[in-house]
Amino acid sequence: MKITLSVVKADIGGYVGHSASHPEVKEKAADELERAKKQKKLIDYKVLSCGDDLNLVMTHEKGEDNEEIHELAWNTFLECTEKARELKLYGVGQDLLTETFSGNIKGLGPGFVEMEFEERESEPVVIFMADKTSPGAWNFIVYKIFADPFNTPGLVIDPAMHDGFYFNVLDVYEDKFVTFKTPEELYDMLVFIGTTEHYCVKDVRKEEDGEKVAASTTQKLNLLAGRYVGKDDPVLIVRAQHGFPAVGEILEPFHFPHLVEGWMRGSHRGPLMAVPFEKATPSRFDGPPRVIAAGFQLANGKLIGPRDHFDDPAFDMAREKANEVADYMRTHGPFEPHRLPLDEMEYTTLPQVKKKLEGRFKSAK
Ligand code: F6R
Ligand code: MG
Ligand code: MG
Repeated sequence: MKITLSVVKADIGGYVGHSASHPEVKEKAADELERAKKQKKLIDYKVLSCGDDLNLVMTHEKGEDNEEIHELAWNTFLECTEKARELKLYGVGQDLLTETFSGNIKGLGPGFVEMEFEERESEPVVIFMADKTSPGAWNFIVYKIFADPFNTPGLVIDPAMHDGFYFNVLDVYEDKFVTFKTPEELYDMLVFIGTTEHYCVKDVRKEEDGEKVAASTTQKLNLLAGRYVGKDDPVLIVRAQHGFPAVGEILEPFHFPHLVEGWMRGSHRGPLMAVPFEKATPSRFDGPPRVIAAGFQLANGKLIGPRDHFDDPAFDMAREKANEVADYMRTHGPFEPHRLPLDEMEYTTLPQVKKKLEGRFKSAK
């Protein structure tokens, strides 16, 4: 049975400030998707949130880039925005860049990731959702899962994985992508994906033109809008087991809270903290950036789950380390590398300050 798993996400208003989604907004989204399920537009759905981002997880048989599904997600966000307006939540409609839907949600503001695949005899998937960071945050994670044998022993000892994977890497500025085969082209690939704000892993496959094994949202909201509208707060889907990385191999990279871009005002580096669903509420300095892991078994498209994978003492040390690193980074205050370099900040007052000081710069020759 060919199933499409679609995750569409947007920040349509925060509670309080940019820290969480309001329960009534989530209920509104569930009502809309329940109606669509009754009308057989969807097989199943789940509404989840990470920080101020609302994530619609949907399964159906209509394939990727389907107008009806995209319109359903769009209309759901519009309804949720109305609820957010009524509650006077913060930043109402923040990620919706237009009033009108025109066939596809691409370019309209919300992030989305879709995968069409033949549902296997058993189909475990893990969906990661993050807040206060950008899609480049996944580069390190996806590399560890699919290309690092110290993380994923299956790459060495499972004959089904020993040949490696194909990575499609997107240049977010040029809107072009390039395919790398690992392990053969690992070093070439790292030259690119180490530059996390310019190149993002779009998807990973076992055969070059085969089904996706992993895929992520790769939109850059700030580029779309041509102005600051918040960090992209990305989603990553990874299919697990039986020739794909095991669930434990997929979760393993999060033992290390690596530094990502985002945090306060989308302009700082901080550690990515793996948390249970109920702790996905950025607080200190609007962070630190959070990630949740929702696991599902698919049963003919039905979403059996979610399992809250980071609700586990095995990740307590990672959270402790994240707190230590957050403290260390914060101590830098307005200095790099805590604060991002100028061209990577979401907004800056540099042009105004420079203008004010015009004429005061003297030749130092
Ligand atoms: C970062 C984020 C927050 C806001 C900050 C200022 O992605 O969402 O850190 O940037 O709270 O928000 P405004 O400008 O809305 O007051
Ligand atoms: Mg917000
Ligand atoms: Mg957010």
